[in-house]
Amino acid sequence: MNKIIYLGKKSDLSDNLIQGETIDLGGSLLFPGVVDPHVHFRDPGLTQKENFFTGSRAAVAGGITTVCDMPNTEPPTDSLDNFNEKKKIGEAKSLVDFGLHAMLIESLEERKKLGSAGVTSFKLYPEISDDSNVLTFRDEKEIVSIHPEDPRVLGEHVDTGGDFETFLQSRPKQAEISEINKILGSAAGSHLHFCHLTARESLDLIGKENKKITCEVTPHHLLLDRSHLQEFGPIAKTYPPLRTRKDRKALLEGLEDGMIDIVATDHAPHTSEEKEKGLMEAPPGIAGIETSLPLIYTLVEKGKLSLYRLVEAMCLSPAKIFGLVNDEGIPKGALLPGADADLVALDHEQKWEIKGRDLHGKTKFTPFEGQEVSGRPFLTLVRGEIVFRDGYVTGEEGHGKFLPKKE
Ligand code: DOR
Ligand code: ZN
Ligand code: ZN
Repeated sequence: MNKIIYLGKKSDLSDNLIQGETIDLGGSLLFPGVVDPHVHFRDPGLTQKENFFTGSRAAVAGGITTVCDMPNTEPPTDSLDNFNEKKKIGEAKSLVDFGLHAMLIESLEERKKLGSAGVTSFKLYPEISDDSNVLTFRDEKEIVSIHPEDPRVLGEHVDTGGDFETFLQSRPKQAEISEINKILGSAAGSHLHFCHLTARESLDLIGKENKKITCEVTPHHLLLDRSHLQEFGPIAKTYPPLRTRKDRKALLEGLEDGMIDIVATDHAPHTSEEKEKGLMEAPPGIAGIETSLPLIYTLVEKGKLSLYRLVEAMCLSPAKIFGLVNDEGIPKGALLPGADADLVALDHEQKWEIKGRDLHGKTKFTPFEGQEVSGRPFLTLVRGEIVFRDGYVTGEEGHGKFLPKKE
């Protein structure tokens, strides 16, 4: 059985509906599988950093059952051919169900083809492609995901020496504010989705609009700040950079009150050799897919976030925003009869310490090293299959299915 058929008391269920294994969760918490719509699994072309199998292994160990992969692979996902190539790779290697983002390309014809093939969204990296593209983007059915850093502002304000200050000044929050302003001022008729917000001012800007706009926050921008960059160096280097405690507070408030729609990890693995290059040269990115649920659950445990918002922002809302549904049109991330049996059980009483060496992806380091968290995922199911149990990944490579975006 790969779907949820009933929710309720066992005593109300007739015996003939109970088939196969019975698992007593012993009073632990059962969540819908977490949906992470922003991951970089680096496959094809950058598989020294991660691949679809290792990335999805880390996902299931962290209670994540659906992901959407970003297009900055080699080759990039910028044509139907490359999209189909990546889809095959995912189908062969993934443990979790997956959608695929494509680059925001200029060719309307190719965009149409990608749309019919079920692309999740078109991603705009203003540093790579011209964002005037988005000004003419008027298809209501399509989603444009934006990495909001305006290249015109990057590098503008650097005036002090020292890697730490230079790096932070080179990517100021004004770049985010400027890019968001530019996009909001455009005539884009598509659904706009702003990735990994870092600044209070961004929330104010987006809050004033009544267009169809959604946005996300990462666990690292919520829970870490420039002090962690100072402590961890390149391991905590990410674009956009970690900001201040004040920004973190505003992001947490935004997540709780729904101004920020979802949590997405921006899981962006790099090799340890690359991260040893020093703050200015090391590539940006934090591998966070496995630690996301425990970190956000810890906020619930501390009374800083409601359990309701955790489930909404990590499970159902990302599925609804990106049109991730099962074969009957029921969204992922839902605990409902008829929904796919994507489930994660969390031992909410367990307190444990995050250690990079225990992670299941290729990256064995994390800026959350040594942080104590509450709640440990111990059982993950993808469409009824046990893919992770008691610390071991049990799922089979290729179990994951491609999910075309539903309009
Ligand atoms: O920190 C980042 N890493 N930001 C990005 O926009 C890209 C990502 C990556 O692919 O490594
Ligand atoms: Zn980005
Ligand atoms: Zn990203």
